Amino acid sequence: MSVGERDPISGHMTTGHEWNGIKELHTPVPKPVWFFLIAFTLFGVIWTLFMPSWPYGTGYFKGWLGIDQKQTVARQLEEGRADRAAWTARIEKEDFAAIKADSDLMGVVRETGHTLFGDNCAACHGTGGEGNLGYPNIVAAPMLWGDTPEIIAETITVGINGADPNTRVSQMLAFGRNQMLDRPAIQQVITYVRSLSGLEQRTEANAAAIDAGKEIFAANCVSCHGDDAKGKTDVGAPNLTDHFWIHGSSRDAIYQTVFNGRQGHMPSWGLRLSPVAIKILALYLTDLREQQHAAVGNGT
Ligand code: HEC
Ligand code: HEC
Repeated sequence: MSVGERDPISGHMTTGHEWNGIKELHTPVPKPVWFFLIAFTLFGVIWTLFMPSWPYGTGYFKGWLGIDQKQTVARQLEEGRADRAAWTARIEKEDFAAIKADSDLMGVVRETGHTLFGDNCAACHGTGGEGNLGYPNIVAAPMLWGDTPEIIAETITVGINGADPNTRVSQMLAFGRNQMLDRPAIQQVITYVRSLSGLEQRTEANAAAIDAGKEIFAANCVSCHGDDAKGKTDVGAPNLTDHFWIHGSSRDAIYQTVFNGRQGHMPSWGLRLSPVAIKILALYLTDLREQQHAAVGNGT
């Protein structure tokens, strides 16, 4: 048998070995494969000389470059802390107006406020603060307790019907359940309340109910909701003349409100969040509210 014979089918040379008539083809590992194998092995060995690598009994070879990931992380954390401490200190001591006027600080407020809001508030108030049934819209609706950043910070700190001893307290009375108004009277006052925001137009059919409802409202409701029904911030009673509804605007929903009363519960965040976090949230909300109003102003 001859060395260097060419296999007629595959075109490869054979090795010259033959077993029971089967000849072995000569197919060496291609050169580029050898090249990369050697190059990467060399690279690996050299890398282990420069970087922390080989373990031995009591420790490991630190590498000629002396790079230490643990120290790098610790240093980055330290730098982050120093950075944070610097702006936290400024937000803590400067007043609301000064912070609002400082675009760098407001950048921090927007970023941190967004995270704080997402983590603590969005579950009830919605990701953009737009509210859910039972939870008020806090970016576009008139505020129950007032809308300056100072007041909003106070509301967030003490909560509404919350656990803090200084909590804001509010209650929509259960006029039906407590037998202060009978069902027909409740139906009349509902018609009147819905007419205030245009949910019901005055017609011949409902004119008598609206007029009767107005009197019931004057006798029972104005002490909290105001003579003009636009709400009172000292008792946290909502404006009933706009299109924002906490508990729903259908006749059924308002019937529930007036018959059984409502007592929304907003946690006292001062018991859980730091004062500076609350300050950031109050500024964040004020900023969102201003953007919202600017957008509505431009759009109409
Ligand atoms: C468990 C649900 C819940 C969570 C969580 C929650 N809130 Fe509230 N919040 C409420 C309810 C309910 C009200 C309205 C109470 C009422 O109807 O009188 C409210 C009211 C408010 C008000 C007052 C609105 C006004 O019109 O004056 C502000 C401000 C507010 N929340 C901010 C926040 C912020 C900031 C967070 C996160 C730190 C937060 N809330 C988390 C339930 C919640
Ligand atoms: C003692 C004060 C008080 C009186 C009196 C009162 N309300 Fe209220 N009312 C509130 C408060 C506070 C709320 C908000 C409750 C909440 O969200 O937890 C409210 C909420 C409402 C709402 C729900 C608004 C929404 O956005 O869903 C309606 C409707 C309403 N009141 C109608 C009336 C009517 C009608 C009367 C008179 C028959 C009346 N209220 C009397 C305090 C009062």
